[in-house]
Amino acid sequence: MNIAISSDHGGNNLRKEIISLLNELGHNYQDFGPQTSDSVDYPDYANPVSEGVAAGNFDRGILVCGTGIGMSIAANKVNGIRCALVHDVFSAKATRGHNDSNILAMGERVIGGGLAREIVKTWLAGEFEGGRHERRIEKLSELENK
Ligand code: RB5
Repeated sequence: MNIAISSDHGGNNLRKEIISLLNELGHNYQDFGPQTSDSVDYPDYANPVSEGVAAGNFDRGILVCGTGIGMSIAANKVNGIRCALVHDVFSAKATRGHNDSNILAMGERVIGGGLAREIVKTWLAGEFEGGRHERRIEKLSELENK
């Protein structure tokens, strides 16, 4: 899978942990930074990942900030993005099956690296169930064009 990943300063450490996991799992990825621990603004780092996924340049995106909230709000501003803020394994599976989420957001100040790794593994492996959920995804797209 081809994955785009970024964080802000509040998510730097967890982003690095997730990059180690992506290496272990053998996924291709592009790291959009940041490359220093300086304070940065999360919309600036969410946007290249979101635009890249929406354009089809990446299969999925992963965003990390302190809470995951700022990143998820920023990502969902981009048409075609269904970003899920997830801090448990049940939701990681459900959001793939029901929402066909294409970006995963997590908060480094909320969960530890062990749980985050399980969430990422579950989310990457999760399959969209289609059926009635397809209709609901279509309605989300319609909201973007209002
Ligand atoms: C940065 O201090 C923090 O606000 C950010 O990482 C994130 O939690 C915002 O939602």
